Amino acid sequence: MAEERLQKVLAAAGVCSRRQAEKLISDGRVTVDGQVVSTLGSKVDPARQKIRVDGHPLGQTGLVYYLLNKPRGYVTTMADPQGRPLVTSLLKGVKARVFPVGRLDIDTSGALILTNDGDLTQKILHPSHEINRTYLALVNGRPSEAQLDALRQGILLEGRKTWPALIKVVGNDRDSTRIEITIHEGRKRQVRKMFAAIGHPVRELARTAYAKLELGNLPIGRFRELTPKDLEKLFL
Ligand code: URA
Repeated sequence: MAEERLQKVLAAAGVCSRRQAEKLISDGRVTVDGQVVSTLGSKVDPARQKIRVDGHPLGQTGLVYYLLNKPRGYVTTMADPQGRPLVTSLLKGVKARVFPVGRLDIDTSGALILTNDGDLTQKILHPSHEINRTYLALVNGRPSEAQLDALRQGILLEGRKTWPALIKVVGNDRDSTRIEITIHEGRKRQVRKMFAAIGHPVRELARTAYAKLELGNLPIGRFRELTPKDLEKLFL
């Protein structure tokens, strides 16, 4: 095999996305024949050279896909300087080095896909694919129909209008309302910011579906491998 850029080789081996590979390299976590290579664009010959990530040989592992019901209190990054629990620590028995597709806030629970398929991840996250994400939000008080309509049509958040959202009230209590909201953007803390913007902050947030994949009755903290049927729903 001809020489190829190290980040491309890592992504092709299913370690992570190209962008994440670049970070692994610049963080000095990748060695080639025992030497740390931290320069982006270095060329390697994977057939002849020994490439390791965090000391683990780059295997030709197959691509794997999981759906996790993330509990609150876990971060969706691959490392945490504050030592908070990582979602990947919940994938007991999974040997492949999987990473979350997109993010969920530490205080949000629900559907999170984890995979070592970097190409699929990039595709799913690309805004042009407008992948739906559905959340169940428990918000303070009772938003009026006019306020919900404003969210449906899109509101200005940090100078940029949100795309139209689907919103359904599913129940209310004396001082709170349960609302299902579907959006196809992945802006940071978007759902929380949207409800805060209309004066009804979120108390609890759970993602119930990602693309056409529903969490169903997967218990919190548990994961399952995606079936070929699930993957069909996911592949664009
Ligand atoms: N919107 C949020 O506010 N938080 C999430 O985790 C996901 C979407």
